[in-house]
Amino acid sequence: MEIGFKNIVPEYPAKEKTIYFPNIELKKAMKILLLGSGGREHALAWKISQSPKVEKLYIAPGNAGTGEVGENVALSATDFEGIKAFVLANGINMVVVGPEDPLVKGVYDYFRDDEELKNIPVIGPSKEGATLEGSKDFAKAFMMRHGIPTARYQTFTQETLDEGIAFLHTLEAPYVLKADGLCAGKGVLILSTLEEAEKELREMLGGMFGSASASVVIEEFLSGVECSVFVLTDGKNYKLLPEAKDYKRIGEGDTGLNTGGMGSISPVPFADAAWMQKVEERIVRPTVEGLAAEGIDYKGFIFFGLINVKGEPMVIEYNVRMGDPETESVMLRLKSDIVDLFEGVAEGNLSERTIEFDPRSAVCVMLVSGGYPGDYAKGYPITGFEKVEGSYLFHAGTTVKDGQVVTNGGRVIAVSSYGDTQLEALATSFKNAQALHFTDMYCRSDIGKDILK
Ligand code: AMP
Ligand code: GLY
Repeated sequence: MEIGFKNIVPEYPAKEKTIYFPNIELKKAMKILLLGSGGREHALAWKISQSPKVEKLYIAPGNAGTGEVGENVALSATDFEGIKAFVLANGINMVVVGPEDPLVKGVYDYFRDDEELKNIPVIGPSKEGATLEGSKDFAKAFMMRHGIPTARYQTFTQETLDEGIAFLHTLEAPYVLKADGLCAGKGVLILSTLEEAEKELREMLGGMFGSASASVVIEEFLSGVECSVFVLTDGKNYKLLPEAKDYKRIGEGDTGLNTGGMGSISPVPFADAAWMQKVEERIVRPTVEGLAAEGIDYKGFIFFGLINVKGEPMVIEYNVRMGDPETESVMLRLKSDIVDLFEGVAEGNLSERTIEFDPRSAVCVMLVSGGYPGDYAKGYPITGFEKVEGSYLFHAGTTVKDGQVVTNGGRVIAVSSYGDTQLEALATSFKNAQALHFTDMYCRSDIGKDILK
């Protein structure tokens, strides 16, 4: 049995290298359908709704906040047949996809391969492109093929469990185990002892996350500060968006359980021009070029989950969408018309569009339900909206019940603010967080403070 990092570069079948572009006629008065229902989608909807090119914005299914900047449609983001009927009945001429689920399930391909839908652009990658997020093994192999810096790894299945255990013995603590497939953000385990790592590996391969953990990636632990970098690509060119950092743990000082994200900041102080140049040269460009070279149809956002290891950027993961709650600060810093950029993606002329950032700082502080990320109650009335001044409230888990906005999820509302400095932006968000109220409301008061020291 061979033990240790093998560093094999998996083959990729050569394919015809063409990118599909719909034969679109983008109109001045566009009707856009945005899929999703979280804080990210409210922030995207807020930005899209400011575009002079947009006549009408629908969000499916949306939440109480998206309903203020567009019209919510009671359709699941993965109900492709329902979406088709709605798109045709309402003359939609662009679909923007917020979450990964519809992308991994192939919403882009569904439109491209349908006679009636094929000329309506979908902003988001094909199902194959979405595999960068949908399969950790695929993403790692892609990075190996294109020389993109990432942690060394090997992938195991139930049949190779013994090799997996032997492999763990060659590594040092902590141990990083990743379910290959999508697990709603819960598929990565970091274990401090070999005993725990072996136990979890057995459980994962034994079906802990169903088929999503039928394969498990074991990788080297990387130590450093994380940074989220985003690009929008038309498959040939790309534009970098403002970078951000999110705060994943529930407790102050980044302790306790992992959550969907408790807050974010943009810009990220260590992501200066020199660091971002390394990111572009070593990571962003090889990724976009690699996708094109492999004939993978990718027209949408790429989210690079990076870690700064002693000044060198490395990839922790790819996502095929914007980050949440990063979007709730990134959208504040995007000065340009996002719909103009989406048109560039759809028409394949993104390089002709301009992108400008707001020089101010932006932060987002997430208000969550008591008990989250464990069990929590829903349906508590949210009050104090009229007292909020100088922040943008992006709804994450809210709904309207009997004319009253009530909690409807673990993450409830993102309080996003600008500031001339990050501390100023944070102060505004915390002040407004305290103006809002619902039973058992909680937020972290230390967002951004770790790297602002
Ligand atoms: P992912 O779902 O891949 O983003 O992983 C979740 C989190 O686990 C990341 O945001 C990191 O904080 C952490 N993580 C993942 N892979 C590694 C690694 N190789 N070394 C250290 N931390 C990691
Ligand atoms: N904030 C991390 C994510 O959206 O996956």
